Amino acid sequence: MTSRQRSFDPRTNKVAAGRLAFVLVSLVLAGGSFLLIAWIVWQLLGQQEPPQITTGYVNYNIAGEWQSSDSFAQANAAYAEYVKQYPEPQNVQILTGMSTAQIYGYMVNQFSGALGVSCQHCHNLAQGNFADESNPNKHVARQMLLMTSDLNKNWINQLPASVGGYQAGCATCHNGLPVNLNGGNSGELSNYPADQAPVPDKFQIKLDSAADIEMLQVTGNLDADLFDVQYNQYVMTHMNYSLGVGCAFCHNAAYFPSNEVPQKGHALIMLKMIQHLYNGQVDPQFQYSDPNYTRGPGYLAAMNNKVPSCWMCHREAQIPPGAMLDGALPPQISSQQ
Ligand code: HEC
Ligand code: HEC
Ligand code: HEC
Ligand code: HEC
Repeated sequence: MTSRQRSFDPRTNKVAAGRLAFVLVSLVLAGGSFLLIAWIVWQLLGQQEPPQITTGYVNYNIAGEWQSSDSFAQANAAYAEYVKQYPEPQNVQILTGMSTAQIYGYMVNQFSGALGVSCQHCHNLAQGNFADESNPNKHVARQMLLMTSDLNKNWINQLPASVGGYQAGCATCHNGLPVNLNGGNSGELSNYPADQAPVPDKFQIKLDSAADIEMLQVTGNLDADLFDVQYNQYVMTHMNYSLGVGCAFCHNAAYFPSNEVPQKGHALIMLKMIQHLYNGQVDPQFQYSDPNYTRGPGYLAAMNNKVPSCWMCHREAQIPPGAMLDGALPPQISSQQ
C-alpha cells in the first residue's frame, strides 16, 4: 500500500512528468537526427554518377588506380619518345598490321584497362623499349591473345546471332585484376565465385572428358546414384548463380531432359568451351611456344592451373560484363573479320 500512496505524491508525479517530457524530447530529437542523416545519405547516393561504360565494352569501365600511377606517367613519357622513333612496331607477332599508335590505343583500352595494371606489368621499360622481350608476362600475354582468339573463332561464334554477337576479350575474364580473378581466393577454386569456394572439390564441374558432361544427364539413367544427382544439382546451381538466372532460363521446368529452350543448347556449347580451356587439345596455331615462355603447353598452364568456371566470365549476368561489342576487338583475335 505504501508504494501505491507514494505514487499519488504530487512531487513524484512532477518528476515522472519531467522524465516523460525528457524521454519524448529525446525521442523526437533522435528521430529527427536519424531522418536528417538518412536524408543526407540519400542525397549523396542520389548524386553518385552511375558507373561509366567504356566504349567497346558491355558494362565495364577501364578506370582504375593504374591510370593515375607514377608508373603509367613514366610509361607514357617513354611511349612519346618510342613512337617518334618507331611509328611502326619492331616486334609484334600477333597484332601484325597495326601501327605503333594503334597498338598503344589497344594496350591502354584492352590490356592495361582489362587487367588494371600499368604497362610495366608486361614491358621492361628500363631502356624505354616496348619491343623488349625480357618481361615474362609479355609472353603470357601472347598466349592469352592466342587463347582468346581460339575462344572467339571456335566456341563463342557457335552461339546464334540472337544472343548478341558479343566476343570475349581480356576484360571478360580478368575484370580489372591480373591474378586471382575472383578477388583473392587463391588455389584451385580461384576462378569460382568466392561464395562458392567452399563447394567441395568433387562437386566442381568435371571437365576431363566428354563423359563428364554426359554425366549431367540423370533422368532415366538407371545407374545414376545419389552422388550423380547431387553433382548435377551443384553444377546447375553454379550455372544459375553464375548467370544470375533461374532454372527455367534453360529448361522446360516440366521436363528437364528436353531441349526446346535454346539457352540449354547455348549452355552446353559453353560447357564444352570451358572443358576445352581445362583439358583441350590446343591446335598448334593457338599454342605459343617461345623459349622465353615458361608456363608450358595448354591453356590451363597459361591460366596458372586455375580451373575455369562459368562465373569467371559471367559474374551473375547473362552477358558477361567486359564482353566486347561488335568490332571492338582487333581482327586477329575476333571471329568477326
Ligand atoms: C598484359 C600485358 C601487357 C600490358 C599491360 C601492356 N602491353 Fe604492350 N605489348 C604486350 C604484348 C604481348 C605485345 C606484343 C604483341 C604481339 O606480339 O603481337 C605488346 C606490344 C606493345 C607495343 C609494340 C612494341 C613493338 O614495337 O614491338 C607497344 C608500343 C606497347 N605494347 C605499348 C604498351 C603500352 C603503352 C602499355 C600501357 C598502356 C602496354 N603496352 C601495356 C603486352 C602488354
Ligand atoms: C578465359 C579467361 C581469360 C582470358 C580471355 C584472358 N585471360 Fe589472362 N589469365 C586468365 C587466368 C585464369 C590467369 C591466371 C590468374 C592467376 O594466376 O590467378 C591469367 C593470367 C594472365 C597473365 C599473367 C598475370 C600475372 O601477373 O601472373 C597475363 C599477363 C594475362 N593473363 C594477360 C591476358 C591478356 C592480355 C588477355 C587478352 C588478350 C587475357 N589475359 C585474356 C584468364 C584469362
Ligand atoms: C544456363 C543453363 C542452365 C541452367 C540455368 C540450369 N540448367 Fe540444368 N542443364 C543444363 C545443361 C546444359 C544440362 C546438360 C544437358 C546435357 O548434357 O545434355 C542440364 C541438365 C539438367 C538435368 C538433367 C537432365 C537430363 O538429361 O537428365 C536436370 C535434372 C537439370 N539440368 C536441372 C536443373 C535445375 C533444377 C536447375 C535450376 C537449379 C537447372 N537445371 C538450371 C543447363 C542449365
Ligand atoms: C570466356 C568467357 C566465358 C565463359 C567462361 C563462359 N561464358 Fe557464357 N558467354 C560468354 C560470352 C562472351 C557470351 C555472349 C556471346 C554472344 O553474344 O554470342 C556468353 C553467352 C552465354 C549464354 C547465352 C545467353 C543467352 O541469352 O542465350 C549462355 C546460356 C552462357 N553463356 C552460358 C555459360 C555457361 C553455362 C558457362 C559455364 C559452363 C559459360 N557461359 C562460361 C562468355 C563466357
